[in-house]
Amino acid sequence: MTTVELGKQTPPPAPRPKGEPVLSVRNLAKHFPIRSKGLIRRKVGDVHAVCDVSFDIYDRETVCIVGESGCGKTTTGRLVLNLIPASSGSVVWRGQDLTTISSRGMRPLRRDMQIVFQDPFASLDPRMNVNELVAEPLRIHGQYRGENKGREQVRDLLAQVGLNPEHGSRYAHEFSGGQRQRIGIARALALKPRLLVLDEPVSALDVSIQAGVINLLEDLQEEYGLAFMFISHDLSVIRHIADRVVVMYLGKVVETAEADELFRRPSHPYTQALMSAIPLPDPVKERERKRILLTGDVPSPVSPPSGCRFRTRCPKFANELDNAQREWCVNVEPALEAKFTAHEAACHFASARTDILEVGADMRAVPAELAQWPTGRPSDEQASQPMSCAPEDGAREPIRISDDVTVDAEGELVVEES
Ligand SMILES: Nc1ncnc2c1ncn2[C@@H]1O[C@H](COP(=O)(O)OP(=O)(O)O)[C@@H](O)[C@H]1O
Ligand code: SF4
Ligand SMILES: [Mg+2]
Repeated sequence: MTTVELGKQTPPPAPRPKGEPVLSVRNLAKHFPIRSKGLIRRKVGDVHAVCDVSFDIYDRETVCIVGESGCGKTTTGRLVLNLIPASSGSVVWRGQDLTTISSRGMRPLRRDMQIVFQDPFASLDPRMNVNELVAEPLRIHGQYRGENKGREQVRDLLAQVGLNPEHGSRYAHEFSGGQRQRIGIARALALKPRLLVLDEPVSALDVSIQAGVINLLEDLQEEYGLAFMFISHDLSVIRHIADRVVVMYLGKVVETAEADELFRRPSHPYTQALMSAIPLPDPVKERERKRILLTGDVPSPVSPPSGCRFRTRCPKFANELDNAQREWCVNVEPALEAKFTAHEAACHFASARTDILEVGADMRAVPAELAQWPTGRPSDEQASQPMSCAPEDGAREPIRISDDVTVDAEGELVVEES
């Protein structure tokens, strides 16, 4: 790992030859309405599960969506596959917007995009043997070419995912977790898709088994020219497979960059905290390093915090900022802005840290554009903008933070007793 030299601009990573993205997600939002009980089920609120999410996936690329449980990763995956309707925004798959397509128009595209679930056991019908399970998607899409040919297709698929084709008459419960996940992957591959959405595909597996499944996925990507949308709550799982990373917090993208770039100098306090949990291979450095602990759980997406959604758990907000700076965090939603070429973060006070995975690296090494923090306090106009997930609620009353206010351990603003 190279560290950034103080005062010198590090050249951006060389762009990879790409062409057009196969998938473009723009300003995607999903609100699940909450209804009252009783006969007249009035809408009483919304779960803001996904809010203004944008990213691209290129051919043969692995884009990893990372964030703690409840951040909206699975919902984003389901929206991409058009399994649920979006509240707003677009999902363009090879030139076609899936949010406006008819179900008839969607049918042939379903083959192109397949999903692998976290829990292979729950997604595999216990009454079907493995041959039937792998043949099922072929049959549904009229691709099962007669008994002899069909059986051959299934045997090939089982061999490709590293399962013994002789075991095709067995049932899912007779296999280990890793083998069951391989059955799930064989099913997803059967229709020769272009994109696989992998929703926590190794999270339910023992660490010793995870590497085998990840290696298999990489081999299959190479062989079939697949694009991956790989969802994980764990940055260490995706470190070696990701080409690009999209970090989500409470329904929003907080940081995105090419993987090398993101791991070299994470800029958002949330990414920095997630990254500080990755174990270091060197035991001496591992002992020296300081974990950035996040207190509390992800807040409810029914009423996300105003301004920056991460502020109730942000160590920088609690420990490093003064009250004028905190007014930006509590009032103004930080935009996802380019900090380097192809490196964006949504934090008013973003600053790259180079010391998290490389203990002892020079953390003062922050390129100039990252020091463009807002000065003074936000104006009334800036501080009263409606929240992006609820524009219908209109302008907000600015929250002003006087000098006698401090932040407690829960990230709450409290007035000091005199
Ligand atoms: N069908 C649904 N109805 C209401 N709320 C939902 C539904 N699906 C997900 N949610 C909520 O949306 C938020 C994001 O969920 P999810 O996308 O599953 O997150 P993740 O996969 O990152 O754990 C959570 O608060 C979850 O409870
Ligand atoms: S905008 Fe403020 S609260 Fe949000 S991540 Fe940055 S420093 Fe923390
Ligand atoms: Mg999930």
